[in-house]
Amino acid sequence: MDRNPDGPPSAPSTRQEGAPVLVDTFGRTATDLRVSLTDRCNLRCSYCMPPEGLDWLPKPELLTDDEVVRLVGLAVGELGVTEVRYTGGEPLLRRGLTGIVRRTAALAPRPEISLTTNGIGLARLAGPLADAGLDRVNVSLDTLDPATFKRLAHRDRFADVLAGLEAARAAGLEPVKINAVLMRGINDHEAPALLRFCLERGYRLRFIEQMPLDAQHGWTRDDMITADEILERLSAEFDLAPDAAHDRGSAPAETFVVGGGPETVGVIGSVTRPFCGACDRVRLTADGQVRNCLFATEESNLRDAMRGGAADEEIAERWRKAVRAKRAGHGIDDPSFLQPSRPMSAIGG
Ligand code: 5AD
Ligand code: SF4
Repeated sequence: MDRNPDGPPSAPSTRQEGAPVLVDTFGRTATDLRVSLTDRCNLRCSYCMPPEGLDWLPKPELLTDDEVVRLVGLAVGELGVTEVRYTGGEPLLRRGLTGIVRRTAALAPRPEISLTTNGIGLARLAGPLADAGLDRVNVSLDTLDPATFKRLAHRDRFADVLAGLEAARAAGLEPVKINAVLMRGINDHEAPALLRFCLERGYRLRFIEQMPLDAQHGWTRDDMITADEILERLSAEFDLAPDAAHDRGSAPAETFVVGGGPETVGVIGSVTRPFCGACDRVRLTADGQVRNCLFATEESNLRDAMRGGAADEEIAERWRKAVRAKRAGHGIDDPSFLQPSRPMSAIGG
């Protein structure tokens, strides 16, 4: 297929009608690809990594920009992927990000392109990224208090995140979505304030239950603020009604209309209200491993296949095989649950 980064933006797809896409044995089709571009981060959110950081992947192990674009091109052109989300770690730390986005936008068929970021650096990069073809951003924001931010993320960068949010909106990366994780005794009293903040500024807020994905293995079920608790806290100050117009479908967030609408708030009950049955995601780590689930214990190494000279069709078949092996669900609530050996920052949200 045509991999010329400067090629026409709407070159016809080479995918044969009916060619095998990414299906698993439960009949789910993966169309939403999450690509981690780096495992590094400039924050240290306690639900993700320890204050001292982690042993980052050595550069030679990371996919190069060309390798990323080749694999994403294969996913879009041959495997039926329609949405590409770049994540990290912190993807804004990836030097070639704007170029990767531009080349992704030139793929055929053009996928939807989004970014999950902590917002630091977005003030500078939102405009160039939008120009390159980025469609939307999700920004993590767990608190409105700079001191709590510092306590939670071990860095004093609250103001940078706010500036990043404003820049994203100004660049038209809308709807700007905000992801918030509540932690007991730290920021769990802030749910209504976070919602008010987002309503006032036109950001779309989603709360995410804390998942056992931290590098320190410090997650406990008792400390997790559940979807029920989040809704209870919000309901103390807001009228919430299930959003009938918004079927959950494969979207993890259950959506609620706030105060009669039109604004909404999402609650992602990854643990207590799992959505594995409708999952349409597949992940590619920064070092080129396919993971069929955030909680997968196995990976398929596309990088080494690619570096060993594998042809597109061989890589595509490896990818299909990796997705076929996807399990029914993550089983976090099951006593036999095993936390994956890689933390979230190395897997890609
Ligand atoms: N549980 C829930 N959400 C998490 N995130 C990072 N680690 C966790 C976790 N353990 C969130 C980030 C970001 C997105 C990628 O996932 O806050 O918004
Ligand atoms: Fe960085 Fe995101 Fe992990 Fe926070 S959750 S430390 S912003 S990778």
